[in-house]
Amino acid sequence: MSSFYKINQQTHAWYNRIHHGDCLMLLGQMPDATADLVVTSPPYNLLNSSGNGMKNGNGGKWSRAALMQGYDTHSDAMPHHAYVEWQRECLREMLRVLSPEGAIFYNHKWRVQKGLLQDRTDIVDGFPVRQIIIWQRSGGFNHNPGYFLPTYEVVYLIAKPGFRLAPKAGGVGDVWRIRQDRGNPHPASFPVELARRAIGATSAQVVLDPFIGSGTTAVAALLEGRQFIGMDVSEDYCRLAQQRVDAVARELAGTPSLAETPSAIEVKTMLEPAPQAAAVVNPDS
Ligand SMILES: C[S@@+](CC[C@H](N)C(=O)[O-])C[C@H]1O[C@@H](n2cnc3c(N)ncnc32)[C@H](O)[C@@H]1O
Repeated sequence: MSSFYKINQQTHAWYNRIHHGDCLMLLGQMPDATADLVVTSPPYNLLNSSGNGMKNGNGGKWSRAALMQGYDTHSDAMPHHAYVEWQRECLREMLRVLSPEGAIFYNHKWRVQKGLLQDRTDIVDGFPVRQIIIWQRSGGFNHNPGYFLPTYEVVYLIAKPGFRLAPKAGGVGDVWRIRQDRGNPHPASFPVELARRAIGATSAQVVLDPFIGSGTTAVAALLEGRQFIGMDVSEDYCRLAQQRVDAVARELAGTPSLAETPSAIEVKTMLEPAPQAAAVVNPDS
């Protein structure tokens, strides 16, 4: 891939950092072709739903149940049309900052709305979708008698014409059976394994995630020996991501990292259970 070899002062400032801010604002400041690959999972706009998918149960401050209140600083309840337009603008910007051999692994979820399947065609329509990967993740409860328990999410592979998989990487197939992430204080993290599989299937050197949450994509990039660029609108999630990145970097280097980590009190607060917690009963309705 080309961008790794074009590192200059301007792009270098982006690499191996978690950037705090709105991704459209940050992407707007990034030069073209700064990254080789995007691996990301945007907010799903779950709280704009015809059902009341999340109620009852227990969990932490940012538990999956806490998505009832949306993310730390994003309500996840945009009017559907505005949400679709926002995501389309994000995809346009992601493509712009990708090298000509780049691709986006865009994880999203289909759901049932007022009894009918809502896929995400309205978001990806017109973008160069090359393949849909099924992430078979299982899990969850479904008390809705109208349809089967959903056990998968999708990953749209949106690829520029020059995109190619690494040699022999395609043999793994297009159904990826990977267990959901567990024990992560972020309410909607995907597993490191999912991001590693995407990154490891490419020769990308610089991996971007504009919705990095707890830093999973950055961790996966480090473990795959690549560079990363992370962004999130929540300062607390950025801190958590930085903490995870530091831990992995320390492990890989076998030496303490100099990067700033949150204080013990900050970490404790992040992990503390909320007083009235709730669990995801049926996130798909
Ligand atoms: C589905 S989560 C990503 C979780 C991540 N894949 C992980 O494994 O932790 C979506 C993230 O998008 C962030 N977000 C929401 N609006 C944003 C915006 N305008 N710019 C950047 N990040 C945003 C949320 O704070 C949340 O952490």
